[in-house]
Amino acid sequence: MTNKFFERHVFFCTNQRPDGHEKGCCASKKSVLLRAYMKKKTKEIVTDKKIRINASGCLDHCEFGPTMVIYPDNIWYTCKSESDVDLVIDEHLINDRVVENLLIKK
Ligand code: FES
Repeated sequence: MTNKFFERHVFFCTNQRPDGHEKGCCASKKSVLLRAYMKKKTKEIVTDKKIRINASGCLDHCEFGPTMVIYPDNIWYTCKSESDVDLVIDEHLINDRVVENLLIKK
């Protein structure tokens, strides 16, 4: 039987708030571009796993943004650059290892 569900489902916050909003937002920290980069790169190089990279609304961790969460692992990361995204793809999505230095710790 084929598993129709995703092995990993990534929610990458692309929420945008008006300039000057007290909470800020992930969109103002390049999250839209970083999420697009992650989606494209994951599709190109992770061909043996069913993974979905979704844009999401606010994940309520705005101060750490750009914020993403990976399910079913319930692991939260802040990814501020393409090289951060590369690490998450290479370590977490491909090799099943948590990227400790990008974890969001409240
Ligand atoms: S705006 Fe991205 S977590 Fe709130």
